[in-house]
Amino acid sequence: MVKVAILGFGTVGSGVAEVLTKNNAHIEEKVHNSVQLKYILDVRDFPDSPFGDKIIHDFALIENDPEINVVVETIGGARIAKEFTERALRAGKSVVTSNKELVATHGYDLMQLAKEHDVSYLFEASVGGGIPIIRPLSQCLAANELTEICGILNGTTNYILTRMIKAGLSFDAALKEAQQNGYAEQDPTADIEGHDACRKICILGSLAFGRHIYPGQVPTEGITRVTLADVAYADACGRKVKLLGRAIRREDGRVMAYVAPHLVDGSAPLASVEAVFNAITVKGDAIGDVMFYGPGAGKLPTASAVVADVMDAAKHLKTRKYMSWGPGGDDVTTPPDGLESAWYVRAEA
Ligand code: HSE
Repeated sequence: MVKVAILGFGTVGSGVAEVLTKNNAHIEEKVHNSVQLKYILDVRDFPDSPFGDKIIHDFALIENDPEINVVVETIGGARIAKEFTERALRAGKSVVTSNKELVATHGYDLMQLAKEHDVSYLFEASVGGGIPIIRPLSQCLAANELTEICGILNGTTNYILTRMIKAGLSFDAALKEAQQNGYAEQDPTADIEGHDACRKICILGSLAFGRHIYPGQVPTEGITRVTLADVAYADACGRKVKLLGRAIRREDGRVMAYVAPHLVDGSAPLASVEAVFNAITVKGDAIGDVMFYGPGAGKLPTASAVVADVMDAAKHLKTRKYMSWGPGGDDVTTPPDGLESAWYVRAEA
């Protein structure tokens, strides 16, 4: 019997509760075990929710309940979420998360902790919402020497850029729509300033290149300086403005990573990625180029990835699945001089 606790009943947490419950018969059939949601931890009460009776306010109840074997962390941030993740792993519970900030800043340590306690720490939903990308990178493409990852990694900014060009909306109006649709972070600064995309390229680069790449090592520019005139001018020139995250392994073995708006040629596959969709291209020596595409944010797409991790953790209660990369180092380098000016060519220039 697998009993699950969700930490945080926000957009993603409530989506996880919904998918776990609605698809329960199918989930149990695939896991070959009973999978039941037991607790939802939140500071608030939700008397009108069908899950209102599962709400608790004290993490110790989860930590000390031997029945709980999988904890889903959808609190976000790297403070209380880190403390609860560490306590859950130490208590012998597998942890599944959509929290890219925590994985990008403390992923190496948390994966080590999971290993020490013989439990899983899984984070498929931390990048690309519902798009399968973490497992493909760490497992399906494992035979390749990977050289580059490049992608549209933030649904909110791609939504804003799309709505600016397609509907002529101002930046602020498009952001408001993205927030209303549940795509944006609680504080949308992380989206529009590029920090969310930065955390995601750190996770993908760490997986691809086997060493922890920290957000502080990645020069990051968001889309706050992109104007309606810029996107219209780019469009008139057959190009699209896209916020891209890139991580490249150079020939000298060092890794170069950055996030910035780019002018993408209209015929390139990334140019046609619109609204909340994300797309990630990966280059490997055996596979060549491969692209992953799908809904990059939102309640149910993200819950789809989280619940798949819950199922994976549930199936491997006795044979743990370890995700891993090595410790960070100083072999992450910033882009060479001259590249910076090519990141983003302003329309009026
Ligand atoms: N705020 C994020 C985005 C959510 O817009 O992509 C998914 O990580």
